[in-house]
Amino acid sequence: PVVFVLNGPNLNLLGKRQQEIYGSETLADIERLCHDTASRLGLRVDFRQSNAEHVLIDWIHAAREEAAGIVINPAAYTHTSVAIMDALAAYSRPILEVHISNIHKREPFRQHSYVSAVASAVISGCGSQGYALALTRIAHLIEAPAG
Ligand code: DQA
Repeated sequence: PVVFVLNGPNLNLLGKRQQEIYGSETLADIERLCHDTASRLGLRVDFRQSNAEHVLIDWIHAAREEAAGIVINPAAYTHTSVAIMDALAAYSRPILEVHISNIHKREPFRQHSYVSAVASAVISGCGSQGYALALTRIAHLIEAPAG
């Protein structure tokens, strides 16, 4: 099975941007971690990043045909995008929401997520390891959809 790992705006700057919050790993490091984790789990990962809301929405639509699950770090769109929430609501397979930082320990405007309402589960504050944890959970949900 193929899992889409989708990354939202500014995550292309990981490793350069606010290292005290997001750490020193780059998105390429996280992509490598996802491929390694997926191969251990018998999954394949299609890893993507966009700064554009409509591109993320088009990828979520494509996942309807192409992916057994979605891991998504919607970045700032987490807190703003009804459109991404609606696209995910039309996807009937597992969705894992990931945040590198613990959004609940940060500014009040980060503490509401539109995406959480339609996600199977949320992982926040585990750093890049959150992606590996999300893939582990998706592998389990693909095997046993009831959880
Ligand atoms: C983030 C948290 C968001 O609030 C923020 O806008 C990001 C990254 C995270 O991974 O911790 O860009 O999703």
